[in-house]
Amino acid sequence: MKPSDTILVIGSNGQIGTELVADLRQQLGEDRVIAADLSFASGVNTNGPTEIIDVLDGNRLQEIVSKYQVTQVFHLAALLSATMEKKPKLGWRINMEGLFNVLDVARERGIGRVFWPSSIAVFGPTTPRDNTPQNTIMDPSTVYGISKLAGERWCEYYFLKYGLDIRSVRYPGLIGHKSEPGGGTTDYAVHIFHEALRAHAYQCFLNENTMLPMMYMPDAIRATLKLMDTPAANVKIRSAYNLAGISFSPKDIAAEIKTHIPEFQISYLPDFRQPIADSWPRSIDDSPAKADWGWMPEYDLAKMAQDMLHNIKKKQAEAALQL
Ligand code: NAD
Ligand code: SER
Repeated sequence: MKPSDTILVIGSNGQIGTELVADLRQQLGEDRVIAADLSFASGVNTNGPTEIIDVLDGNRLQEIVSKYQVTQVFHLAALLSATMEKKPKLGWRINMEGLFNVLDVARERGIGRVFWPSSIAVFGPTTPRDNTPQNTIMDPSTVYGISKLAGERWCEYYFLKYGLDIRSVRYPGLIGHKSEPGGGTTDYAVHIFHEALRAHAYQCFLNENTMLPMMYMPDAIRATLKLMDTPAANVKIRSAYNLAGISFSPKDIAAEIKTHIPEFQISYLPDFRQPIADSWPRSIDDSPAKADWGWMPEYDLAKMAQDMLHNIKKKQAEAALQL
Protein backbone atom coordinates (compact mmCIF):
# COMPACT_ATOMS: atom_id res chain seq x y z
CA MET A 1 0.00 0.00 0.00
CA LYS A 2 1.41 3.38 -1.01
CA PRO A 3 0.41 6.66 0.68
CA SER A 4 -1.00 7.74 -2.70
CA ASP A 5 -3.38 4.73 -2.92
CA THR A 6 -7.12 5.30 -2.83
CA ILE A 7 -8.91 2.25 -1.54
CA LEU A 8 -12.48 1.12 -2.07
CA VAL A 9 -13.88 -1.39 0.43
CA ILE A 10 -17.13 -2.98 -0.83
CA GLY A 11 -19.21 -4.66 1.89
CA SER A 12 -17.46 -2.30 4.30
CA ASN A 13 -19.93 -2.56 7.16
CA GLY A 14 -19.76 -6.28 7.82
CA GLN A 15 -17.71 -8.26 10.31
CA ILE A 16 -14.41 -7.88 8.42
CA GLY A 17 -15.03 -4.55 6.68
CA THR A 18 -15.73 -2.71 9.92
CA GLU A 19 -12.26 -3.56 11.22
CA LEU A 20 -10.48 -3.38 7.87
CA VAL A 21 -11.73 0.14 7.07
CA ALA A 22 -10.73 1.39 10.53
CA ASP A 23 -7.25 -0.09 10.12
CA LEU A 24 -6.77 1.22 6.57
CA ARG A 25 -7.97 4.70 7.53
CA GLN A 26 -5.56 4.74 10.45
CA GLN A 27 -2.69 3.91 8.09
CA LEU A 28 -3.60 6.02 5.05
CA GLY A 29 -5.85 8.75 6.41
CA GLU A 30 -9.62 8.83 6.50
CA ASP A 31 -10.08 10.45 3.07
CA ARG A 32 -8.19 7.76 1.19
CA VAL A 33 -10.47 4.89 2.14
CA ILE A 34 -13.99 4.78 0.69
CA ALA A 35 -16.45 2.62 2.60
CA ALA A 36 -19.19 1.19 0.35
CA ASP A 37 -22.19 -0.86 1.43
CA LEU A 38 -25.95 -1.20 0.98
CA SER A 39 -26.65 1.22 3.86
CA PHE A 40 -24.91 3.30 6.51
CA ALA A 41 -27.87 3.42 8.89
CA SER A 42 -25.82 1.91 11.72
CA GLY A 43 -23.30 4.77 11.62
CA VAL A 44 -20.39 2.36 11.06
CA ASN A 45 -17.47 3.77 9.01
CA THR A 46 -18.99 7.25 8.75
CA ASN A 47 -15.74 8.96 9.84
CA GLY A 48 -14.63 9.10 6.18
CA PRO A 49 -16.07 8.92 2.65
CA THR A 50 -19.03 6.57 2.28
CA GLU A 51 -20.94 5.41 -0.80
CA ILE A 52 -24.15 3.44 -0.97
CA ILE A 53 -23.77 0.67 -3.50
CA ASP A 54 -25.32 -2.61 -4.52
CA VAL A 55 -22.39 -4.54 -5.98
CA LEU A 56 -24.82 -6.04 -8.49
CA ASP A 57 -25.02 -2.58 -10.09
CA GLY A 58 -21.94 -2.50 -12.33
CA ASN A 59 -22.59 1.07 -13.55
CA ARG A 60 -22.66 2.41 -10.01
CA LEU A 61 -19.41 0.59 -9.31
CA GLN A 62 -17.80 2.21 -12.39
CA GLU A 63 -19.07 5.59 -11.23
CA ILE A 64 -17.53 5.28 -7.73
CA VAL A 65 -14.21 3.95 -9.04
CA SER A 66 -13.98 6.85 -11.47
CA LYS A 67 -15.15 9.50 -8.98
CA TYR A 68 -12.37 8.66 -6.49
CA GLN A 69 -9.74 7.36 -8.96
CA VAL A 70 -9.62 4.13 -6.96
CA THR A 71 -6.29 2.23 -7.08
CA GLN A 72 -7.12 -0.79 -4.88
CA VAL A 73 -10.36 -2.66 -4.15
CA PHE A 74 -11.20 -4.94 -1.23
CA HIS A 75 -14.38 -6.77 -2.28
CA LEU A 76 -16.06 -8.16 0.85
CA ALA A 77 -19.75 -8.04 -0.12
CA ALA A 78 -21.23 -11.54 0.03
CA LEU A 79 -23.74 -13.79 1.72
CA LEU A 80 -22.17 -16.29 4.14
CA SER A 81 -22.67 -20.03 4.50
CA ALA A 82 -25.69 -20.29 6.79
CA THR A 83 -27.64 -17.45 5.15
CA MET A 84 -26.83 -18.75 1.71
CA GLU A 85 -28.26 -22.22 2.44
CA LYS A 86 -31.56 -20.40 3.07
CA LYS A 87 -31.31 -18.10 0.03
CA PRO A 88 -29.21 -20.07 -2.46
CA LYS A 89 -30.16 -18.24 -5.67
CA LEU A 90 -29.88 -14.75 -4.19
CA GLY A 91 -26.55 -15.73 -2.60
CA TRP A 92 -25.25 -17.11 -5.88
CA ARG A 93 -26.14 -13.83 -7.62
CA ILE A 94 -24.51 -11.65 -4.98
CA ASN A 95 -21.39 -13.79 -4.65
CA MET A 96 -20.83 -14.48 -8.35
CA GLU A 97 -22.28 -11.51 -10.27
CA GLY A 98 -20.86 -9.19 -7.62
CA LEU A 99 -17.42 -10.71 -8.13
CA PHE A 100 -17.70 -10.42 -11.93
CA ASN A 101 -18.64 -6.74 -11.64
CA VAL A 102 -15.58 -6.10 -9.48
CA LEU A 103 -13.23 -8.12 -11.72
CA ASP A 104 -14.53 -6.37 -14.86
CA VAL A 105 -14.32 -2.84 -13.49
CA ALA A 106 -10.82 -3.58 -12.16
CA ARG A 107 -9.72 -4.85 -15.56
CA GLU A 108 -11.34 -2.04 -17.55
CA ARG A 109 -10.13 0.74 -15.26
CA GLY A 110 -6.65 -0.69 -14.69
CA ILE A 111 -7.07 -0.94 -10.91
CA GLY A 112 -3.68 -1.87 -9.47
CA ARG A 113 -4.65 -4.52 -6.96
CA VAL A 114 -7.81 -6.38 -5.87
CA PHE A 115 -8.51 -8.43 -2.74
CA TRP A 116 -11.39 -10.92 -2.63
CA PRO A 117 -11.73 -13.45 0.18
CA SER A 118 -12.32 -17.14 -0.28
CA SER A 119 -13.06 -19.52 2.60
CA ILE A 120 -12.39 -22.91 4.15
CA ALA A 121 -15.84 -23.67 2.69
CA VAL A 122 -14.15 -24.50 -0.66
CA PHE A 123 -13.35 -27.89 0.87
CA GLY A 124 -15.91 -30.66 1.19
CA PRO A 125 -16.80 -33.98 2.79
CA THR A 126 -14.12 -36.04 1.03
CA THR A 127 -11.31 -33.49 1.50
CA PRO A 128 -8.69 -34.67 4.03
CA ARG A 129 -9.92 -32.91 7.17
CA ASP A 130 -6.73 -32.63 9.22
CA ASN A 131 -3.97 -30.26 8.17
CA THR A 132 -5.83 -29.81 4.86
CA PRO A 133 -3.27 -29.09 2.12
CA GLN A 134 -3.36 -26.15 -0.27
CA ASN A 135 -4.00 -28.44 -3.23
CA THR A 136 -6.33 -31.34 -2.49
CA ILE A 137 -9.82 -32.68 -3.19
CA MET A 138 -12.28 -29.80 -3.34
CA ASP A 139 -15.90 -30.95 -3.40
CA PRO A 140 -17.88 -28.31 -1.46
CA SER A 141 -21.39 -29.39 -0.53
CA THR A 142 -22.75 -25.93 0.34
CA VAL A 143 -23.92 -23.26 -2.12
CA TYR A 144 -21.55 -20.86 -0.39
CA GLY A 145 -18.59 -23.22 -0.83
CA ILE A 146 -19.44 -23.79 -4.49
CA SER A 147 -19.55 -20.00 -5.03
CA LYS A 148 -16.16 -19.58 -3.33
CA LEU A 149 -14.54 -22.37 -5.35
CA ALA A 150 -15.95 -20.95 -8.60
CA GLY A 151 -14.77 -17.49 -7.47
CA GLU A 152 -11.25 -18.78 -6.92
CA ARG A 153 -11.13 -20.23 -10.42
CA TRP A 154 -12.39 -16.96 -11.93
CA CYS A 155 -9.83 -14.92 -9.97
CA GLU A 156 -7.01 -17.08 -11.27
CA TYR A 157 -8.48 -16.84 -14.78
CA TYR A 158 -8.52 -13.02 -14.68
CA PHE A 159 -4.89 -13.07 -13.49
CA LEU A 160 -3.73 -15.45 -16.22
CA LYS A 161 -5.84 -14.04 -19.03
CA TYR A 162 -5.82 -10.30 -18.28
CA GLY A 163 -2.93 -9.87 -15.84
CA LEU A 164 -5.26 -8.58 -13.11
CA ASP A 165 -3.32 -8.45 -9.82
CA ILE A 166 -5.89 -10.24 -7.68
CA ARG A 167 -5.06 -11.77 -4.31
CA SER A 168 -7.04 -14.00 -1.99
CA VAL A 169 -6.97 -16.12 1.14
CA ARG A 170 -9.24 -18.89 2.36
CA TYR A 171 -10.23 -17.31 5.66
CA PRO A 172 -11.05 -19.65 8.52
CA GLY A 173 -13.95 -18.67 10.84
CA LEU A 174 -13.21 -15.16 12.09
CA ILE A 175 -13.61 -13.98 15.66
CA GLY A 176 -13.63 -10.35 16.75
CA HIS A 177 -15.16 -8.06 19.36
CA LYS A 178 -15.58 -4.89 17.26
CA SER A 179 -18.24 -6.19 14.86
CA GLU A 180 -20.93 -8.84 14.65
CA PRO A 181 -20.64 -11.94 12.45
CA GLY A 182 -22.91 -11.96 9.41
CA GLY A 183 -24.65 -15.34 9.09
CA GLY A 184 -21.89 -17.97 9.00
CA THR A 185 -21.47 -21.44 10.45
CA THR A 186 -18.60 -20.28 12.66
CA ASP A 187 -20.59 -17.40 14.26
CA TYR A 188 -21.00 -19.34 17.52
CA ALA A 189 -17.35 -18.60 18.35
CA VAL A 190 -18.22 -14.88 18.66
CA HIS A 191 -21.67 -15.23 20.26
CA ILE A 192 -20.31 -17.50 23.00
CA PHE A 193 -18.18 -14.68 24.46
CA HIS A 194 -21.05 -12.19 24.58
CA GLU A 195 -23.37 -14.72 26.23
CA ALA A 196 -20.70 -15.99 28.65
CA LEU A 197 -20.31 -12.46 30.01
CA ARG A 198 -24.02 -11.54 29.83
CA ALA A 199 -25.71 -14.73 31.03
CA HIS A 200 -22.91 -17.11 32.06
CA ALA A 201 -24.53 -19.62 29.69
CA TYR A 202 -24.63 -20.38 25.98
CA GLN A 203 -26.53 -22.85 23.83
CA CYS A 204 -24.30 -23.83 20.92
CA PHE A 205 -25.72 -24.75 17.49
CA LEU A 206 -22.79 -27.10 16.80
CA ASN A 207 -22.01 -30.22 18.83
CA GLU A 208 -19.24 -30.21 21.41
CA ASN A 209 -16.56 -31.94 19.31
CA THR A 210 -16.93 -29.94 16.11
CA MET A 211 -13.36 -28.83 15.54
CA LEU A 212 -13.02 -26.02 12.96
CA PRO A 213 -10.22 -23.72 11.77
CA MET A 214 -10.65 -20.23 13.27
CA MET A 215 -8.69 -17.00 13.47
CA TYR A 216 -8.70 -13.88 15.65
CA MET A 217 -9.58 -10.74 13.67
CA PRO A 218 -6.29 -8.86 14.31
CA ASP A 219 -4.46 -11.81 12.71
CA ALA A 220 -6.93 -11.86 9.79
CA ILE A 221 -6.52 -8.14 9.11
CA ARG A 222 -2.73 -8.43 9.37
CA ALA A 223 -2.70 -11.39 6.95
CA THR A 224 -4.91 -9.51 4.48
CA LEU A 225 -2.75 -6.39 4.47
CA LYS A 226 0.47 -8.41 4.41
CA LEU A 227 -0.67 -10.31 1.34
CA MET A 228 -1.76 -7.08 -0.36
CA ASP A 229 1.66 -5.52 0.35
CA THR A 230 3.66 -8.49 -0.94
CA PRO A 231 5.58 -7.88 -4.20
CA ALA A 232 3.59 -9.39 -7.08
CA ALA A 233 6.35 -11.85 -8.01
CA ASN A 234 6.07 -13.51 -4.58
CA VAL A 235 2.32 -14.07 -4.87
CA LYS A 236 2.52 -17.46 -6.51
CA ILE A 237 -1.05 -18.59 -5.86
CA ARG A 238 -3.70 -16.56 -7.66
CA SER A 239 -6.70 -18.66 -6.68
CA ALA A 240 -6.55 -18.33 -2.86
CA TYR A 241 -4.01 -19.16 -0.15
CA ASN A 242 -4.82 -21.52 2.71
CA LEU A 243 -4.62 -19.52 5.95
CA ALA A 244 -4.51 -20.97 9.46
CA GLY A 245 -4.77 -19.55 12.94
CA ILE A 246 -6.29 -21.65 15.71
CA SER A 247 -8.31 -24.89 15.55
CA PHE A 248 -10.74 -25.65 18.36
CA SER A 249 -14.13 -27.19 19.15
CA PRO A 250 -17.02 -25.69 21.17
CA LYS A 251 -15.88 -27.86 24.09
CA ASP A 252 -12.35 -26.39 23.90
CA ILE A 253 -13.51 -22.79 23.78
CA ALA A 254 -15.98 -23.37 26.61
CA ALA A 255 -13.18 -24.80 28.77
CA GLU A 256 -11.03 -21.75 27.98
CA ILE A 257 -13.87 -19.37 28.92
CA LYS A 258 -14.40 -21.29 32.16
CA THR A 259 -10.84 -20.45 33.24
CA HIS A 260 -12.04 -16.80 33.34
CA ILE A 261 -15.72 -17.35 34.27
CA PRO A 262 -15.91 -20.59 36.32
CA GLU A 263 -19.73 -20.52 36.50
CA PHE A 264 -20.06 -20.52 32.67
CA GLN A 265 -22.25 -23.35 31.32
CA ILE A 266 -22.50 -24.52 27.72
CA SER A 267 -25.25 -26.70 26.25
CA TYR A 268 -25.58 -28.08 22.72
CA LEU A 269 -28.48 -28.08 20.28
CA PRO A 270 -27.04 -28.78 16.81
CA ASP A 271 -29.10 -27.39 13.91
CA PHE A 272 -28.81 -27.15 10.10
CA ARG A 273 -25.30 -25.69 10.49
CA GLN A 274 -23.94 -28.96 11.91
CA PRO A 275 -23.71 -30.78 8.53
CA ILE A 276 -22.09 -27.69 7.02
CA ALA A 277 -19.41 -27.71 9.74
CA ASP A 278 -18.99 -31.48 9.37
CA SER A 279 -18.09 -30.99 5.70
CA TRP A 280 -15.27 -28.53 6.47
CA PRO A 281 -11.66 -29.16 7.55
CA ARG A 282 -10.65 -29.46 11.20
CA SER A 283 -7.28 -27.81 10.62
CA ILE A 284 -5.42 -26.20 7.73
CA ASP A 285 -1.90 -26.44 6.33
CA ASP A 286 -0.90 -22.90 5.37
CA SER A 287 2.75 -23.56 4.56
CA PRO A 288 2.56 -21.88 1.09
CA ALA A 289 1.37 -18.61 2.72
CA LYS A 290 4.21 -18.88 5.23
CA ALA A 291 6.78 -19.57 2.50
CA ASP A 292 5.58 -17.03 -0.11
CA TRP A 293 4.75 -14.00 2.00
CA GLY A 294 5.98 -14.74 5.51
CA TRP A 295 2.58 -15.33 7.13
CA MET A 296 2.65 -16.17 10.85
CA PRO A 297 -0.34 -15.96 13.24
CA GLU A 298 0.09 -14.31 16.66
CA TYR A 299 -2.98 -15.43 18.58
CA ASP A 300 -3.59 -18.84 20.14
CA LEU A 301 -6.85 -19.82 21.86
CA ALA A 302 -5.84 -18.52 25.32
CA LYS A 303 -4.57 -15.15 24.06
CA MET A 304 -7.61 -14.65 21.82
CA ALA A 305 -10.10 -15.58 24.58
CA GLN A 306 -8.48 -13.25 27.10
CA ASP A 307 -8.59 -10.32 24.67
CA MET A 308 -12.20 -11.04 23.60
CA LEU A 309 -13.44 -11.25 27.20
CA HIS A 310 -11.57 -8.10 28.24
CA ASN A 311 -12.95 -6.01 25.37
CA ILE A 312 -16.53 -7.32 25.40
CA LYS A 313 -16.72 -6.82 29.16
CA LYS A 314 -15.64 -3.20 28.67
CA LYS A 315 -18.21 -2.71 25.88
CA GLN A 316 -21.03 -4.23 27.94
CA ALA A 317 -20.14 -2.01 30.92
CA GLU A 318 -20.16 1.11 28.71
CA ALA A 319 -23.53 0.10 27.21
CA ALA A 320 -24.98 -0.44 30.71
CA LEU A 321 -23.85 3.07 31.76
CA GLN A 322 -25.71 4.57 28.81
CA LEU A 323 -29.05 2.93 29.78
P1 NAD B 1 -20.66 -9.88 6.56
O1 NAD B 1 -21.90 -10.59 6.20
O2 NAD B 1 -20.42 -9.53 7.98
O3 NAD B 1 -20.55 -8.52 5.71
C1 NAD B 1 -20.85 -8.47 4.34
C2 NAD B 1 -21.23 -7.05 4.00
O4 NAD B 1 -21.57 -7.03 2.62
C3 NAD B 1 -22.45 -6.53 4.79
O5 NAD B 1 -22.16 -5.29 5.38
C4 NAD B 1 -23.53 -6.41 3.73
O6 NAD B 1 -24.41 -5.31 3.94
C5 NAD B 1 -22.70 -6.21 2.46
N1 NAD B 1 -23.44 -6.62 1.28
C6 NAD B 1 -24.21 -7.72 1.10
N2 NAD B 1 -24.74 -7.72 -0.13
C7 NAD B 1 -24.28 -6.61 -0.76
C8 NAD B 1 -24.48 -6.06 -2.04
N3 NAD B 1 -25.30 -6.64 -2.93
N4 NAD B 1 -23.85 -4.92 -2.34
C9 NAD B 1 -23.05 -4.31 -1.45
N5 NAD B 1 -22.83 -4.77 -0.22
C10 NAD B 1 -23.45 -5.91 0.13
O7 NAD B 1 -19.44 -10.71 5.97
P2 NAD B 1 -17.93 -10.75 6.49
O8 NAD B 1 -17.85 -11.76 7.56
O9 NAD B 1 -17.43 -9.38 6.72
O10 NAD B 1 -17.25 -11.41 5.20
C11 NAD B 1 -16.66 -10.65 4.18
C12 NAD B 1 -16.09 -11.60 3.14
O11 NAD B 1 -15.18 -12.51 3.77
C13 NAD B 1 -17.15 -12.47 2.43
O12 NAD B 1 -16.74 -12.69 1.11
C14 NAD B 1 -17.07 -13.78 3.20
O13 NAD B 1 -17.49 -14.86 2.42
C15 NAD B 1 -15.58 -13.84 3.50
N6 NAD B 1 -15.28 -14.73 4.64
C16 NAD B 1 -15.67 -14.39 5.89
C17 NAD B 1 -15.39 -15.25 6.95
C18 NAD B 1 -15.80 -14.94 8.36
O14 NAD B 1 -15.63 -15.79 9.25
N7 NAD B 1 -16.31 -13.74 8.64
C19 NAD B 1 -14.69 -16.44 6.71
C20 NAD B 1 -14.35 -16.77 5.39
C21 NAD B 1 -14.61 -15.88 4.35
N1 SER C 1 -17.04 -18.12 8.65
C1 SER C 1 -17.59 -18.38 7.37
C2 SER C 1 -18.93 -19.04 7.48
O1 SER C 1 -19.16 -19.69 8.47
C3 SER C 1 -16.66 -19.29 6.58
O2 SER C 1 -16.50 -18.78 5.32
O3 SER C 1 -19.71 -18.92 6.58
